[in-house]
Amino acid sequence: MNFDLTEDQLAIRNVARDFATREVEPQAAKLDKTGTWPTDLVRKMGELGFMGVAIPGEWGGAGMDAVSYALAMFEISRACASTGVIMSVNNSLFCDPVMKWGNDQQKTEYLKPCAAGDKLGCFALTEPMSGSDAQTMVTAVEKSGSNYILNGSKNFITCGTEADFMIVFAGSARDGGKLKHHALLFPTNLPGITKAPADEKLGIHAAHSCTLYFENVKLDDSHLLGPAHQGFKVAMVTLDGGRIGIAAQAVGIARAAFDKAVAYAKERKAFGGPIANLQAIQFMLADMKVKLDVAEMLTLRAAWLKDNGRKHNLEAAEAKLFASEAATEIAHKAIQIHGGYGYTVEYGVERHYRDARITEIYEGTSEIQRLVIAASVLRD
Ligand code: CAA
Repeated sequence: MNFDLTEDQLAIRNVARDFATREVEPQAAKLDKTGTWPTDLVRKMGELGFMGVAIPGEWGGAGMDAVSYALAMFEISRACASTGVIMSVNNSLFCDPVMKWGNDQQKTEYLKPCAAGDKLGCFALTEPMSGSDAQTMVTAVEKSGSNYILNGSKNFITCGTEADFMIVFAGSARDGGKLKHHALLFPTNLPGITKAPADEKLGIHAAHSCTLYFENVKLDDSHLLGPAHQGFKVAMVTLDGGRIGIAAQAVGIARAAFDKAVAYAKERKAFGGPIANLQAIQFMLADMKVKLDVAEMLTLRAAWLKDNGRKHNLEAAEAKLFASEAATEIAHKAIQIHGGYGYTVEYGVERHYRDARITEIYEGTSEIQRLVIAASVLRD
C-alpha cells in the first residue's frame, strides 16, 4: 500500500497551504466577526484553480483529482471554514454533477465559468419541512406545453445569496405512490425567484445561506440536468461526493484547533512548567491527534476510491461521520486546554468549535450517515 502523494498532489497542497496561511488565515477572524462574504478570497481561489479542482481543463477546471481537492480543502478550511465550504459547494455540489450529467451546452454555459471561479453555483435540495427525509420535498415542477413551471421554496442553501447558478430538485411526477423528481439547472436571476436575506447562524458566518422562493419560474428542456424523473439519484450520487468535501472541511477545522492547542500547551505555564508536561494535557493531545489522523485517512480513502471510479458511498459517509464528530470533539478539547482563554474570542479556538458543529449537520446529519453506513453493511 502506498500512502505517498503524487508530485501534482503535493504541489496543490503546498499552493493551498501557502495561500491559506498568507491570505486566508489573517482575515478569518474578522470575516467571522462581521459575517462578511470573502469576495476577494473566492476570486483568488478561482485564479488558483480551487473552484473546480477535479474538473478537466477544457471545462474550466484545474484538471486534478478528488484527492487533490481534499488536500486543498484541508488547508483552506484550516484557515477559514467559511471559505472552505464555499469552495466545497462550488466543487462538489455544483461542478461535479454538471460535469457528470450536463450536456455540452450546459457545461459551456454553467460549468466552465463556475469551475474557473468566474461564477458561483449552489445546490438546493433542503426545504423547510424536508431535510433528512429529502424525498418528501413539496417544491414541484409541472410540464406546461414545452415549458416547465417551478413552484416552492428551498432553505439553508449555502451560497444561495451569492450564487449565479443553481441546481434545484423538485417533484416531477408520481409513479404509483412514489414521488419522482427532476434535477433542474438554471441561473438564479430568472423571473419568479426571490432570495431571502442571509440566515443568522452559530458558525461559518462568512458563508451565507438563505431561503429561496420559486413562484411560477418558467424553465424548459435545456434546464433539465440528467435524465427526467431521476433527480433524486442525481442528488444522492452528488452527496456521496459532497460528503468527502465536508469531511475534508472538518479535518481542516480539527487541524486548526489541534495546532492551537499544541502551541498553547507548550507556552502556558502552571504547576511549575508548561502545561504540556502534565499528563492530563498529554492524554487530551494524544486522543486529538489519533482522531485527526483517522479523519484525514478516511477522507483521503474516500477521495481515492472516487478517483479510481470505485463505489464510495459507504466510505464517504464513514469519513463525513467520523471527521465531523472528531472536529467537534477536538475543538471542544482545544478550548479545554486553553481554559478561560479558550472561551474568549482572543485565541480563536471558539470559532473552530462553532464552525465544527455544522459539519455534523449539513450534507446529511451524523444520523443519516449512520443510516447510510448501516444500510451498506446490511446489504453487502
Ligand atoms: N446513489 C445512487 N442512488 C441512490 C443512493 C446513492 N448514494 N442513495 C439512494 N439512492 C436511490 C435508491 O437506490 C432508490 O432508488 P429506486 O427508487 O430506484 O429504488 C432511491 O434513491 C431512493 O432511495 P431510498 O429509498 O434509500 O431513499 P430514502 O428516502 O430512504 O432516503 C437517505 C435515503 C439516505 C436518507 C436520503 O434521503 C438522504 O441522503 N437524506 C439526507 C439529505 C441530505 O444529505 N441533505 C443535505 C442537503 S445539501 C447541503 O447540506 C448543502 C450545504 O448546505 C453545504
